[in-house]
Amino acid sequence: MSDYDGLISIAKQARENAHAPFSNFKVGAALRSVSGKIFGGCNVENATYGLTVCAERVAIFKAISEGECHFDAIAVVTDTDALTPPCGACRQLIWEFCGDVPVVMANLQGKVETLRMSALFPKPFDASSL
Ligand code: THU
Repeated sequence: MSDYDGLISIAKQARENAHAPFSNFKVGAALRSVSGKIFGGCNVENATYGLTVCAERVAIFKAISEGECHFDAIAVVTDTDALTPPCGACRQLIWEFCGDVPVVMANLQGKVETLRMSALFPKPFDASSL
């Protein structure tokens, strides 16, 4: 039993709702606020491809729109042997809204790896760069 089991479980549930008819690559994410609330998200694709929104960003926008703005972990779940790290655009937003949180990557077989954002996104552009 780890501190992240609940987070991974919500990300798995969210993945079930992925709308990925173009890539068939279903992703689930879950973002935990410091108050303990967990927000799930899935990838939502579109025929224009470019308007696709990743699971991580859906979870972030859900949380922000519900008034939460302090987070302590995010999970990403896919059905792949090689665990899925957030894409570049998502790293930028995770950094913006969550800072140096642990990113918990997991698959459906129970493989889990956790890396902090400072390892995944070592030289960010952010408000301190302006
Ligand atoms: N995707 C995510 O939702 N999160 C990631 O971290 C990587 C990529 C989605 C976007 C697209 O719907 C599909 O996976 C294939 O790139």
